Formats: sequence, C-alpha cells, structure tokens
Amino acid sequence: MSEGARPSGRLDPGRIVAGALVAVLVCFQVNCGSPRDLEPELPRPKPRSGMVVSESPLASEVGARILREGGNAVDAAVATALALAVVYPQAGNLGGGGFALYVPHEGEPLFLDFRERAPATATADRFTDAEGKLSTELALSSPWSVAVPGSPAGLFELHKRLGSNNFTFAALCKPAVQLARKGFAVDASLVRLLADDDLQARLQRSPGARDQFYPSGKSLAVGERFVQEELAVTLEMFGKQGPEFFYRGLTSRQISAELRQQAELHTGKSVADVSARGLVSALDLDDYLPVWRSPLRGWFRGMEVITVPPPSSGGIALLQILAVLDGFPIEAERRATAPGSAPKSVALPERTLHWWIEGLRCAFAERALHLGDPDHVAVPIDRLLSPEWIARARVSIGEAASADIQAQAPAREGQETTHLSVLDGDGNAVSLTTTLNSSFGSGIFVRGAGFLLNNEMDDFALEAGASNQFGLVGSDANSLAPGKRPLSSMTPTVLRRGGGSVALVIGSPGGPRIITSVAAVIVRTLLFDETLSEAVAAPRFHQQWRPTLTEFEPGWPVELLDALRRRGHVIGTPDLRWGRVQAVSVSDDGIVEGVSDSRGTGSAISVQR
Ligand code: GLY
Repeated sequence: MSEGARPSGRLDPGRIVAGALVAVLVCFQVNCGSPRDLEPELPRPKPRSGMVVSESPLASEVGARILREGGNAVDAAVATALALAVVYPQAGNLGGGGFALYVPHEGEPLFLDFRERAPATATADRFTDAEGKLSTELALSSPWSVAVPGSPAGLFELHKRLGSNNFTFAALCKPAVQLARKGFAVDASLVRLLADDDLQARLQRSPGARDQFYPSGKSLAVGERFVQEELAVTLEMFGKQGPEFFYRGLTSRQISAELRQQAELHTGKSVADVSARGLVSALDLDDYLPVWRSPLRGWFRGMEVITVPPPSSGGIALLQILAVLDGFPIEAERRATAPGSAPKSVALPERTLHWWIEGLRCAFAERALHLGDPDHVAVPIDRLLSPEWIARARVSIGEAASADIQAQAPAREGQETTHLSVLDGDGNAVSLTTTLNSSFGSGIFVRGAGFLLNNEMDDFALEAGASNQFGLVGSDANSLAPGKRPLSSMTPTVLRRGGGSVALVIGSPGGPRIITSVAAVIVRTLLFDETLSEAVAAPRFHQQWRPTLTEFEPGWPVELLDALRRRGHVIGTPDLRWGRVQAVSVSDDGIVEGVSDSRGTGSAISVQR
C-alpha cells in the first residue's frame, strides 16, 4: 500500500533529539489541525472489484454471491455473518455480540455497537465460590456467564439502515437457513477444536451442545454432513419476523428456559429453589437495543484511521500505539540496521521493536485503568488520545525496558471471536467483528433454538486486580453493573487514503491480541512497505502490560530476541500463533487484494464489478 496524497502525519526523524522536543513537535502538529482540515477534497477512485474475506470459505461465498446479485457491502456483511453463525459455530453466532464499522465511499463513517449487555439483576458476587474467591468456572461456563446477546439486533439494524434495499432481511438470512438445513461437510479445524478435553467437558455439560457436537457420544467427524434443523427454523423465523421473534417471541422464551434449566443442573437444586438472579431474562432480552456511536478517527502516515470506540479498548489502544510509533525515527533506524539475511517479514530493527513494545505497555496500562462502557463511565477519550498523552508516553520510553515488571501467567489464546471484511464495487466498506467470547462461548446451547450462548460476563473486571481468561486486569471503569457492556478488545478498522477512498479494511479475533495483530499489519504495511499478504503472514508479538511478558510467535530471529532481553524485556516464545486477520486493501489505482490469515482456514473471494 502506498502512502496517501495528503500530507503525512509523520514527524521528521532527524529533528527528534530529545523527549521534550518530541512533545513540542507533537503539540505543534495537532495545533495545526489534521490533514483533513488542511486539504481540499480529492477525487475518490472506485475499486476495480468487490471482496469478501471471512474465516470460512462457505460464508465468504455467501457474501460474494450477495455482491454479485446487486447487494452492497452491508448486505454482504450481514449475510456473511449469518452464514458464520451456521458454519463457524465456535465464534459465528446469534447468541453473542459484536461491532460493525461502515465506511462509505462518500460520506461519514458509521459505527454500530451490538455488544452484549449484563442482565438487569447481575451482580459480581454471583461469580465467587463458597470461599468468596472469583471462580473461573462461574465466569466462563455457568449460566450466569451469559450476557444478553446483541448480534441478531445488530445485524437486523445494519440491514435496515444501510442495506441496499435490493434484498429483504429474510433474503439475507436465506443462505444461512439453507446451510443449516442442508448441512455442510465438517472440516478438520472444527474437529480439532472439539477434541480438546477442556472444551469437551464444557460442551458435554449442556445437553443441547452434547447432542449437537458429540452425537451418539462421539465428536463430529471430518467430512460428516452437519445438519442444524433447529437453527434453520430459528434463522427462517428471525428472517421473517426480525428481532421481535428473537427478543420477544419464541427464541426469548427458549433462552430463558434453557438458562433456568442450566442453573438447576449447575446448582443441583430444583427449579423452584434456583435463584434466577443474574440470569438473562425475557425482560433483559426485550430491553436490548444496539447503539449507533461515533467511530474514533485519527491519522497515521497520510491515512485516516477510522476505528472502534468504547466499549472496545481496541480503537483507543490502536491509535495510541500508532501515534507513539509515529514520533520515533523509524526510517533512520531502518537505514542504520542492515537486515542481513533475515527474511523481510522479520527484518524489523530491534530498537523499533523495543519502542513498539514499550508503547503497547503504555496503551494497555490505560486500558486497564480507564476503559469501560461509555454509557456507564466517563471514558477520557480526548485525554488518552491527546498530543500530551502521546508525548508523555514517548518521553517515558528510554533505551531499556521500563522497570515495572511482574511476570504473570501468559494469557491463553482463544478462538472466541471472528472477523469479516467486505468491500463492494462502489467502494463502500464494512469491517465487522463478532464474538461469543470463549471458543463456543459458555458452551450452553439453547435447545429448540439451535445455537450457543456467549460467556461475555468474563470480559468485566469481576474482581479488582483479578485477571480474566485473557490475563487482562481491569478497574472500576469495567466493573460489572446491570445493563452495562463489558470492555472489549475487538478492533474493526478502516483506513482511508488521505481521508478519501478506502485503502484498508481490517480486523481479527484473538482477545487482546486483536489489537496487536491489527496494529502490526498497519505498521508493517505503512512503515515497512510490506504488501498486505506479507504483513498478515509475518510473525507477530504480543504485549498487554500485565503480564510483563512479551510473547513472540515462532519465526523471529533468536539474536533479535536476545537483544531485546538485554534491554530488560521479558520474552516468551510459546509454540503458538494468534490472531486471524481478515483484510482487504485497495491500491491507489483501485486494485483490490483480499487476505484471509493463513493462521486460519478462511478465504477471500473477489467479485468483479
Ligand atoms: N470477548 C473478547 C473481546 O470482546 O475482546
């Protein structure tokens, strides 16, 4: 991807001689206004093709077909997300929530928050065991771990407001209904997941999940036709009746009945004795509404970065890390460092990585302290993205790793979330991330309705200082409160060239690793001239403030990691790869590239205009 025609947000590296000067330069730049304020409108070339990228070839094909038949990016994204609810049950969903960013070829970007909400009767004490300790099991796989699903309301709202009018909502549900009714061949990645002992134990506790994924006591097998008739009926009725059916009709009754029965199984007490306090109720479902919010917008190397606002931490952290890096003399460092024989994808200068890791530590520390649901807490967005914050963060970064080191257990990578990126031939883009939280969510399957429920309550800071499944800690800003949305890391993002036409549509699953994965691809394409495929394939690293450990995927040169250790970084090299970026880029002259991360099994499908 090339840099946009408008002035770059880059500072002259040669002038950066001291932290104080950095601060002056940054403030000056911001006082001058953003490039958008300064430049006249440029013509916006249209892309030469449309593109759908998702974690499932079957779902990508559904979206591509909608584009071919005259749908716009929103129609295609909605149909793809509904298909993922069928063919990608580990994360595609009706029982979870998500975020969608819409960036039209002309006009203002829009952002829809359909994140799950805490039930009205939820309290943090529901997640403590008999000794008063926070229980991972209660937070992740009990009926109280389930938050009010937002995906059905969100997908319906997207279509209603932004769809092309060439398709009814029922028509967008139809391909998913057919996939559920006719079935599809189970692939090896789903079977691998189902073989995991922990997951098996979780799913086996829910009678519906057990029958669905382990029919006759055995896991689904590779190539087996997976038919989901109950889900087909739910999707069909949802298509015809919309959210009324899900939030106030049969599905609502099925969800509340399932949760009460699960609570009974969980406590071993009869339904009459089981307190329903904290369970998602029919009233909670009736009360659910998605929220249109203003996306966050910033600038990086001539690109307008349009990204997710709270209740995700992803956008703030992404803009912070890009801004911190922007002030360091990356090019000079690159020139001074002979890459030697290392492949391009890992030939990043060690000092640049050091700045990057320290920048991430600053960003994730703020995440833990200040971020939460903006409808419940005042999130100091302006302060966290101010030139002063950026300058202070940069100034705090010396030649050695900061001392604040307390290694904790590394966070486990989850398969919990799924992202899709769509560009239509008119240049409109949708970046949509949706989640059940853990892989297969709470494992609780709604019998009769045919889908799994999320365990998003674990994304709250259920106890001060305690870490969640991702090793993330939080504060009061993300404490549990009735109706509140838990803090997320999902980072659906779109870059526009000089504020004009779409240049990149991107997102990923991976809990907090979403943020570092998305940032890595943006930094590599814009600062290191890598192609989108190279940047997505390149090995990643992850740092989230707590634990202090920075983890590197396999593939980084040992000498580079040793050099970082000498600076004081705690380095881990787990045998893991993370994030499954789904992205679309558009070159200056309209050539479109779609990349589905080779860490997963998805696909990018191009649609000619
Ligand atoms: N449940 C993962 C996230 O929202 O970040």
